[in-house]
Amino acid sequence: MSDGTTTRGTSSAAQAGLSNLLHEERRFPPSAEFSAQANGQPDLYDRAAADRVGFWEEQARALHWDTPWDTALEWDAPFAKWFVGGTLNVAYNCVDRHVEAGHGDQVAIHWIGEPGDTRTITYADLQREVAKAANALTELGVQKGDRVAIYLPMVPEAAVAMLACARIGAPHSVVFGGFSADALASRIDDASAKLVITADGGYRRGAPSALKPAVDEAVARTTSVEKVLVVRRTGQDVAWDDAKDVWWHEVVDRQPDTHAYEPHDAEHPLFILYTSGTTAKPKGILHTTGGYLTHVSYTHRYVFDLKPDSDVYWCSADIGWVTGHSYIVYGPLANRATQVMYEGTPDTPHKGRLWEIAQEYGVTILYTAPTLIRTMMKWGEEIPQGYDLSALRVLGSVGEPINPEAWVWYRRVIGGDRTPIVDTWWQTETGGLMISPLPGVTTLKPGSAQRPLPGISAEVVDDSGNPVPNGGGGYLVLTEPWPGMLRGIWGDDARYTETYWSRFPGRYFAGDGAKKDDDGDIWLLGRVDDVMNVSGHRISTTEVESALVSHPKVAEAAVVGATDPTTGQAIVAFVIPRGDAAAATAQGDALVQELRNHVSKEIGPIAKPRQILVVAELPKTRSGKIMRRLLRDVAENRSVGDVTTLADSTVMDLISQQLPAAA
Ligand code: WTA
Repeated sequence: MSDGTTTRGTSSAAQAGLSNLLHEERRFPPSAEFSAQANGQPDLYDRAAADRVGFWEEQARALHWDTPWDTALEWDAPFAKWFVGGTLNVAYNCVDRHVEAGHGDQVAIHWIGEPGDTRTITYADLQREVAKAANALTELGVQKGDRVAIYLPMVPEAAVAMLACARIGAPHSVVFGGFSADALASRIDDASAKLVITADGGYRRGAPSALKPAVDEAVARTTSVEKVLVVRRTGQDVAWDDAKDVWWHEVVDRQPDTHAYEPHDAEHPLFILYTSGTTAKPKGILHTTGGYLTHVSYTHRYVFDLKPDSDVYWCSADIGWVTGHSYIVYGPLANRATQVMYEGTPDTPHKGRLWEIAQEYGVTILYTAPTLIRTMMKWGEEIPQGYDLSALRVLGSVGEPINPEAWVWYRRVIGGDRTPIVDTWWQTETGGLMISPLPGVTTLKPGSAQRPLPGISAEVVDDSGNPVPNGGGGYLVLTEPWPGMLRGIWGDDARYTETYWSRFPGRYFAGDGAKKDDDGDIWLLGRVDDVMNVSGHRISTTEVESALVSHPKVAEAAVVGATDPTTGQAIVAFVIPRGDAAAATAQGDALVQELRNHVSKEIGPIAKPRQILVVAELPKTRSGKIMRRLLRDVAENRSVGDVTTLADSTVMDLISQQLPAAA
């Protein structure tokens, strides 16, 4: 890392961000009124500090266990087992127990389709739907332990399908509906999924967008899938294979609406969720049952201050990401939340859509991403100001560092200068929230996620793994196991150990740079590895590079994440064409367009580079590593930094000369 080839934390962009953050001195203490009613009180920190594992046991007791655990934690680093010997059923905890406690008529999900159609699903409805889906899965041959891929738009069936899988103990692998057939195929293959649950399509930006063709393509390329269960959402035409394809409304709807659940072992696999790492192959992050549900329900209750009888909660993420898993499905439902779920895009049919929904349903807690907040800032505050948002009382942020200006705007314009904002740092791997303020307890600092939550232990360390003093910066590590932690990478224990536990032995390496301020509060600074964060989505530079070089006209490619005012980072690619570079450059825009579409087809539209620059050379060290740091300087319009470690120091001049004025 010493030559800066792969280190993002030391990039000049991060440094610039750092000095901005150091000047952030605004403080927002909790109001007495909020503190008095808050679920979280300062003693939570003391109790967790006095007996960390005992504290987690106390949180686990908020769930229904069929068999109590014998041992709370078995830690054979880096492999953890939580609540060993205990058994429970996640679907029972998220649905049935609320009905049994007399809350069957409470709305679980207010669902809003993009075209304006709505569905209201009570906990009793959800219980029947999950039971039918669980019975259908069994009829389709899915047994405990079998993997099920879910590739759906944001329709209630997505939550129902996940809960039905959890109920019968079939780990799900949800693949974001915006991913390509290729990405879906590799995920189906890696987990040997037996069933795929999909839809004909979903609504995006005012039009039906097909999903089934990608499934057909992926299924044709893989060998494990026996059946494809298809939800009819848009009514568009679909190709049909009678041997494999079955309609949800034909198979699920006719099932009995009760289902006797089986308790599963606390460590039974609940789901696999793929995320980008530093190589081209995404990692299948494995989560299990008891610890995960404990972690997500605990954090959801305290960080969002959920009051199940009066709140209307809304997390605007897609179910295809971990935020949707933990804070749309498992955490909120375990806590008996009433929530809003919206199918579509924020600007369809108009740019006030989200605020219109928040007003109509009286949303009290909103959890969204900085990229969305910055987009709203761009669109203008008069849009949200046209709606009554006075019911809002807690706002959350996730996915990337939130810049103080966006934070302050979020609080003033959306939160009416009144609401606490919880900036929640966590990852697919952590399962649930890790570093976040507690509303009603913490004096908030715009731009900082602040403290590890009670029960969580984090540190910022230097290159040699020593904790940095207050005021210092380095790498974020997690120093003790936690219940929601990943249990491994599906099928690859070696990669698990290597990726997370070898950089600082015995400690979990998060891949994020961080800084501790004079009070010891943590400020996240972005990734320090080759993972980009585009609109809160993790995309690896290597993944995009390998998509680019799979195109016949590309000889070599280097990809960097460049700071972008709306998306946080944007993908900028430098491409050496095959054969005659001059001829390729002459093709200009056509080639660039072709390559952008190619990446979109290979990975998905979210990975489409913002910019592709056709160049004759790439800057490399003597050992042949691409110096992305220099490319990032170019992509961010900065003067190019230190080039002394380049094998050929003239390369950067050459690249700069070739750049179109726009770069
Ligand atoms: C980044 C999303 C700063 C971080 C839940 C992390 C954040 C990656 C924050 C995980 C935050 C997420 N402040 N950075 N509040 N939340 N990140 O797996 O780089 O999609 O490592 O999980 O997003 O992304 P993932």
